[in-house]
This record gives sequence, C-alpha cells and structure tokens, in this order.
Amino acid sequence: MSDPLPYVLVLFYSRSGATRAMAEQFVAGIESQSGISARLRTVPPVSRTCEAVDPEIPEEGAIYATLDDLRHCTGLALGSPTRFGNMAAPMKHFIDSTSELWMNGALIDKPATAFTSTSSPHGGQESTLLSMLLPLLHQGMVYAGIPYSETELFDTVGGGTPYGASHLAGTASDRPLDDIERKLCQAQGRRLARLALALDAMRRQR
Ligand SMILES: Cc1cc2nc3c(=O)[nH]c(=O)nc-3n(C[C@H](O)[C@H](O)[C@H](O)COP(=O)(O)O)c2cc1C
Repeated sequence: MSDPLPYVLVLFYSRSGATRAMAEQFVAGIESQSGISARLRTVPPVSRTCEAVDPEIPEEGAIYATLDDLRHCTGLALGSPTRFGNMAAPMKHFIDSTSELWMNGALIDKPATAFTSTSSPHGGQESTLLSMLLPLLHQGMVYAGIPYSETELFDTVGGGTPYGASHLAGTASDRPLDDIERKLCQAQGRRLARLALALDAMRRQR
C-alpha cells in the first residue's frame, strides 16, 4: 500500500475570525504545492471553571486537533491571536499537552512556522510570533519565517513580518485581510510545504 499523502497541520485558535481567515490562506498556499495537503484544525477555548466541557466536535468550522494530528504531520503552521503580546491561552493549553511528543522526539526536524492577528499595529505581533517559536524549538522543530525575497514585506502597511505572517484586524476586529497580508500568508504556506517535503525526504534517508 502506498504511503498516505503527507500533510502540513494548520493549527489555529480564533475567537472573532481573523486568525481563521489567515489559516485559510495558509491552506491555499500549502495546497498550491503538489504532493502535499493541508489539514486545518483548531483548539477548544479554555474555561475559568474546570467542570466546563465543550462538545468534542465544534458546532461549526474546523474540528479540534488531536495529538495524532500533530504527531503525524510533516510540518506545522501555528496561528493564534495576540493576547497581551503573547499567544492565546487555548493554544498554549494545547501545546502544554504535547509532552509525550516531546519525550518521543516526534516533531524533531519537522518545519514549523507561526502567524498572528492583532487589533493594533504595534500591539505585539512580533513578540507573539517569537513566543510561539519557543515551544517549537523545544520540540526540535525547524522554524521558518518569511524571507525578504517576498518583497511585500517592504511595502506592508498592515501585517507581515520576517518572523511570520501577521494581520492588523483593527480595534473592532473588522478589518479584512488586505492583499499583502493574504499574499504573505500564502507565501509562508508554500514555503512551509516545500520545506516539509524536503525535510520529510531527509528523515526517510536516515
Ligand atoms: C484578552 C485579549 C488580549 C488582547 N491583547 C492584545 C494585544 O496585546 N495587542 C493587540 O494588538 N491586540 C490584542 N487583542 C486583540 C486581538 O489580538 C485581536 O482582536 C485579534 O485580531 C483577534 O483575533 P481572532 O479574530 O482570530 O480572534 C487582545 C484581545 C483579547 C481578547
């Protein structure tokens, strides 16, 4: 039986939809490459009361990620809104459940990247992206940002950083992705897909 198509896991949290819109652009970028697919997953919100539980399948949108989605991916794009200059708690909560993968080295030498959305232009896009990079490095992943050969990085008046794609959603969270933000999400997705295939081939040669 032939191997299943390798996939990049696009794992995001989004409350008002901005980070989800970015995730969808990543999917388009990844799936523009042949020989690889994208798997879109989200994480449930966390609650103040530990008794509260969400249904296992969300009422709409992407389904919740499992550890197996992460274990078997060939690459990872991690998306979270900025919250006080850092990733949102639901994403951190999910990451903190991945000790077993860390102990088994399941993510070593797999490429990863991050993306975020903020309400204000200087509200912590870069700090959030850098904070999201930290656990990925602990997992042994290879972080890939956006190179300046994507010349939109020079022109953007919204989001877009060499640390990863970002989006300026505005104070009412109603500013849609602009053309540059969209292009940079897609470019980052394409690059991640190419790196995922290359590193997958490298791991198979061992
Ligand atoms: C608790 C909380 C903290 C936030 N902290 C920041 C922040 O530090 N900087 C910022 O620009 N926006 C901040 N925001 C706004 C969100 O990052 C912004 O609305 C984002 O686009 C939401 O993404 P989503 O639509 O995917 O949920 C915060 C929002 C919440 C609810």
